[in-house]
Formats: sequence, C-alpha cells, structure tokens
Amino acid sequence: MTHNQGVAGSSPAGPTNIHSIETYRFIIYSNLDKFKKYLESNKQSWNKRTPIHIKSDFYRNNSFKKKINSLKSIEIDSLGDVRRKSLLHLQCHFGQDSMSLAKMGAKVTAVDFSNIAIKEAKKIAEEINIPVHFIESDVLKLNLDKKFDIIFTSYGVIGWLPDLNKWAKTIANHLKVGGEFLLTEFHPFFQMIQDDGYNYFYDSKPDYEIESGTYTDGGEDLSTTTYWWNHSLTNIFSALESNKLKIIEFKEFDYSPFLLRGMIKREDGKYILEKRQKNSTPYVFNLKALKQ
Ligand SMILES: C[S@@+](CC[C@H](N)C(=O)[O-])C[C@H]1O[C@@H](n2cnc3c(N)ncnc32)[C@H](O)[C@@H]1O
Repeated sequence: MTHNQGVAGSSPAGPTNIHSIETYRFIIYSNLDKFKKYLESNKQSWNKRTPIHIKSDFYRNNSFKKKINSLKSIEIDSLGDVRRKSLLHLQCHFGQDSMSLAKMGAKVTAVDFSNIAIKEAKKIAEEINIPVHFIESDVLKLNLDKKFDIIFTSYGVIGWLPDLNKWAKTIANHLKVGGEFLLTEFHPFFQMIQDDGYNYFYDSKPDYEIESGTYTDGGEDLSTTTYWWNHSLTNIFSALESNKLKIIEFKEFDYSPFLLRGMIKREDGKYILEKRQKNSTPYVFNLKALKQ
C-alpha cells in the first residue's frame, strides 16, 4: 500500500494548520465540483470492495444473517432505546448496522453512494426480512425532505468527505429539533499513529492511496485508488456547532472494537496496536450532538 500526501493540481491550497475554531469558521467550502473526480474514484473503489467484504471473515455475513447484531457496545450504549424512533444511517455500506438498528426496533432509512453496496444491502434485507429503506446517494448531496429522530454514522466515514461543513448541514437538515446525531469514529490520533504519512489538520488536497486488497481478508487481486481527507477534532466540532448541532457528549476509547492492521488482541472485542502496547492511545471516539 502506498500512502501519499497532496494530489497535484486540481484543488486550491487548502486551509492547513487550522489551530482554532474561530479560524475554521471563516472558511467556507461550498463547491463540490472540484472534488468530483476524487469522489467518483472513491465510489468505484467501494463498488469493487463491497463483494469482497460481503464474503469476508471480517464481516461474517452468514453469521450476521442469523443474529443480525453487528453493532458494538460503544455505539449501542450511546444510542440507548431506539424503538419506534425514525433513524437515518449515513454511509451504511452493505447495511449490516442499518439492519441491526431495524432489528432493535428503529424505523431505518440508510444511505450510501455505492450502488453495489445499496443493491447488496437490499438483497440481504429482503432475504432476512428486515425492513430498511436503502437509498443510493452521496451524503453531501442528500435531500430527503424528511426529518428524523436520530442520525447515526460510524467507523471509517468522515475521511471520505471533503467538506465537513456540507456534511453537518446535511445532518442538520435531516434532524428534528431535539433530535440526536451520533458519530462513532476512529480517532484521528490513531490514524496518524497507525501509518506514517498522515497529517492531522485538514487540507482540501486529499491524501491518496493506491491499495492492493482491502481492509478485510480476501481481495488479493483488488487494486483501488482512493482519496482521503483528514479532519482534526476542531474541524469536526466546529462544523457541527456552526450548524445548530450542540455537542453534548464526547468520549474517547483506548481500544478498537475491530482487529485492524498492526493490531493485537488485548481482550475479547478490544484490539490495540502492537507497537503501542505500553502506551495508552485513543483508538475511537464517540460524539453525540443535539439539534437546536
Ligand atoms: C468504512 S464504510 C462504513 C462503515 C460501516 N460502519 C461498515 O463497516 O459497514 C464507508 C462507507 O462510506 C461510503 N461512502 C464514502 N464516501 C461517501 C459519500 N461521499 N457519500 C455516501 N457514502 C459514502 C462507502 O461507500 C462505504 O460504504
């Protein structure tokens, strides 16, 4: 895998070294066109990865279809009782979490921009008879003309988005006043530590990776080019707070619930980087915001 910083050419210089919320508030990203070719390449990569993920031991889809419980305790504890609540799941991949939320009693609408992921999600949901309304859309262009009680998104999502202000607007536009937004995501510190070459602060010029295989088992012949935007914690907080999403909870976790590259098992369901065994490290964070 190659990891590169700063794709040449197409984007104006981005706001590197953003050290304060105030600075970030004055930066407006509005034009998605300049990101089009990156987002298209990402979409094709997710289309190629999805069939491999469905067959992988990582996602254990056969066992999932029997138990329908892919969610981890971090997000379950934060979500609380979702029964009869309308819930919008963003970047749902092939829908395991969406179906798990529906099984827990939520009325789920789930969105992803990968047409293959959405097609497969619909197939699985039909096979196991779990009602979820799956929609193919770029999160940054979503306009459902409907407001939800809860919006949820998790694990490996925001780095695919070039514009967190647009993302936060999408969330605010689809959440009822008093509704909750829940983000469970890999911690930017962990991402910096896992591989060399990651920056911490946002730059509109994406990092790119030419990757053989994917993060699951399988797909040895797969080759993808993906584009990625780092988002500092300031970026995330200020994008939400500037869009009437008041942060009411922020927690950091010293383990990953997924066994990822370079990790060893600390205990059941808790994984840490082998090279950081002696050092405490934030792997995941959980954030809850309330729509004002
Ligand atoms: C790591 S997966 C989501 C994680 C999910 N928890 C899982 O493991 O099933 C990231 C998902 O984001 C989707 N995605 C990436 N960029 C997107 C965008 N701009 N709009 C909508 N979906 C996007 C991809 O298609 C992929 O399904």
